[in-house]
Amino acid sequence: MRAIQIPRLDGPQAAELVELDEPTDENAVIIEVHAAGVAFPDALQSRGLYQYKPEVPYVPGAELAGVVRSAPAGSHVAAGDRVAGLTMLFGAMAEIVALQPEFVFRLPDNVSFEAGAGLLFNDMTMHFALRTRGRIADGETVLVHGAAGGIGTSALRLAPAFGASRTIAVVSSEAKMDVAKAAGASDVVLAEGFKDAVKELTENRGVDIVVDPVGGDRFTDSLRSLAPGGRLLVIGFTGGDIPTVKVNRLLLNNIDAVGVGWGAWTMTHPNYLQEQWADLEPLLASGKVSAPQPEIFPLERAGDAIASLENRTAKGKVVVKLR
Ligand SMILES: NC(=O)c1ccc[n+]([C@@H]2O[C@H](COP(=O)([O-])OP(=O)(O)OC[C@H]3O[C@@H](n4cnc5c(N)ncnc54)[C@H](OP(=O)(O)O)[C@@H]3O)[C@@H](O)[C@H]2O)c1
Repeated sequence: MRAIQIPRLDGPQAAELVELDEPTDENAVIIEVHAAGVAFPDALQSRGLYQYKPEVPYVPGAELAGVVRSAPAGSHVAAGDRVAGLTMLFGAMAEIVALQPEFVFRLPDNVSFEAGAGLLFNDMTMHFALRTRGRIADGETVLVHGAAGGIGTSALRLAPAFGASRTIAVVSSEAKMDVAKAAGASDVVLAEGFKDAVKELTENRGVDIVVDPVGGDRFTDSLRSLAPGGRLLVIGFTGGDIPTVKVNRLLLNNIDAVGVGWGAWTMTHPNYLQEQWADLEPLLASGKVSAPQPEIFPLERAGDAIASLENRTAKGKVVVKLR
């Protein structure tokens, strides 16, 4: 089978298209992969900078969509089913992938393979972030950093279905504003000067939740943008620096800085992923939550696809097509 391999930790451009043996495992669901999602950890892993470090050579890719070739007796999917799946961090960019049944999810008919390959990783993170950690309530306003990225577009698509009455997207350039609008943002502002823009848009009240996959020097202004009772969801640090917080700010304004570690949560909460999908699948099937509109790269350009997250040219979710 064809697959992408990272042979050395030199960054995404080291990615090579190779021939590998197909996996065999009678206790696993064997999937013919049509598309694989690209997420920020793929870029970090290719340089050995992520907390989880696979041995080289490895096949990148945390998520995929395709058709079941075979499944163990008694599993919730069968040969011929359209599915999405999680590899939980690497192995998805191959024509055939073997996954344990708990990491396989039936894809609604209205969601394409390309969209399906780009939704589990971010939508499950944002479901956990907004509902479980962020305690989102009806009528709340959500500010989203990195709003034209994978996590950002997921937050914009899901927040209204979870009760938000308004979403404010923060992007770094005019060119990325359209991506945030297409994902459903009520308002879009530029990262430069976002605090004042939010103040004006909310008539000095501030927002209830900040979704922060960026970190870095925006953090303090994000805390300043919260209304009393507000929560800042710490999701990632694409901006590079891990910010520090003076906790008197939390006390003085009755606000929370909340850690969101979805992967770690799934390891201590058995069946959590399937419970999340039971919530998310009907929202996607009914159209209440739109499917992602990914930017699609051919398999041969997987290195460019991963690099686009690192060099900040990615617009929305990025997906690699295998079939
Ligand atoms: N905590 C969890 O459980 C969890 C789960 C999944 C992902 N994550 C994390 O969430 C973060 C976002 O992942 P993603 O897949 O959404 O990435 P992405 O698609 O690349 O989006 C990240 C956004 O960050 C912004 N950004 C700001 N400074 C940047 C810089 N120096 N380099 C690159 N991007 C920069 C970019 O928007 P602008 O250019 O508009 O600023 C970009 O759109 C990552 O840190 C990832 O590890 C965490």
